[in-house]
Amino acid sequence: MQISTTANPSPVDDARLAEILAAPGFGTHFTDHMFTVEWTPGRGWHEARITPYGPLTLDPATAVLHYAQETFEGMKAYRHDDGSIWTFRPEQNAQRMVRSSHRLAFPVLEPDDFVQAVDELVRVDQRWVPDGEGEGEKSLYLRPFMFASETFLGVRPAQHVTFMVIASPAGAYFKGGVKPVTLWLTEEYTRAGRGGMGAAKTGGNYASSLVAQQEAIDQGCDQVVFLDAQEGRYVEELGGMNMYFVFDDGHIVTPETGTILEGITRSSIIELAGKLGRQVEERKLGIDEWREGVTSGAITEIFACGTAAVVTPVGSLKWDGGEAPAPASTELTLQIRQALVDIQYGRADDAFGWMHRVV
Ligand code: PLP
Ligand code: COI
Repeated sequence: MQISTTANPSPVDDARLAEILAAPGFGTHFTDHMFTVEWTPGRGWHEARITPYGPLTLDPATAVLHYAQETFEGMKAYRHDDGSIWTFRPEQNAQRMVRSSHRLAFPVLEPDDFVQAVDELVRVDQRWVPDGEGEGEKSLYLRPFMFASETFLGVRPAQHVTFMVIASPAGAYFKGGVKPVTLWLTEEYTRAGRGGMGAAKTGGNYASSLVAQQEAIDQGCDQVVFLDAQEGRYVEELGGMNMYFVFDDGHIVTPETGTILEGITRSSIIELAGKLGRQVEERKLGIDEWREGVTSGAITEIFACGTAAVVTPVGSLKWDGGEAPAPASTELTLQIRQALVDIQYGRADDAFGWMHRVV
């Protein structure tokens, strides 16, 4: 892919950048540039370009605004102690976007082009990658996304599609560092059903999670837990994270895939846990097993994982009319978290070959 670059004539100055990188928050500040490439049936993907970051002008009839034909990805660039910059398993994000694209009736952006686009933006905006020192490891959060940019109100796959990458320096997703998050169990709303879009990373899944997420906040909880749509019995995932359960005999369970997002952190943890001598079972886990397990002590730890949240211990679970206590321990959770971030920040041997050097 041929990428043209137009430098931002007024990039954020060094003093302001230092201020932003000192306390980046999550998803509030954006780098000086963005990547764009467009697709039409006649021309395929064309006009790949990096330009100054800025607003888009969209016709009010742009299809994505009406029918939500959209997919996105979430990944991070990490600065190592020697100043080099790396992404984590970017080809996995690229391949997941291909799967999401199939589900959303989009054209395929080749994984190599996806990775090239991300690499090029990180290279151009490399001064925005914070160093990883200190608590709540910092990184540059990368948000590739694809949307129906055709001006048309008919309901069919768009004939004009835009893929972009934007980047945002990030600190911890949850305020207050690594401490257990409290969860709200929604028994009213579901996230995905059989044949639905649960395994795709598409805005609609997040739109449908918001009313339940708001309930969680109203109940004083950090995140919402979704159950399967068919029986309302099996734990699926959180609004933006996969889940793990550690049992007192040492084995680990994570909900099987199908209607959940196939998290790259999730699949990396299966391999990491194996290296730590722990077996991970992918199976259905009932909400009753959770409630009883944390009460009896059969479940010793629960954690959530994802690119934004990394690995975060789960505390108590609340639902309409009840509450289950936090699991007793966070020991293995913190061990897995450490093993993962040590690889990401280049402090441990990259035995799996997960890291991809950009700068
Ligand atoms: N599940 C949902 C719904 C998510 O939004 C995310 C975040 O990307 C995940 C799981 C975790 O996926 P990953 O580890 O690839 O970030
Ligand atoms: C990510 O972890 O990258 C996500 O997309 C989750 C979102 C809640 C920020």
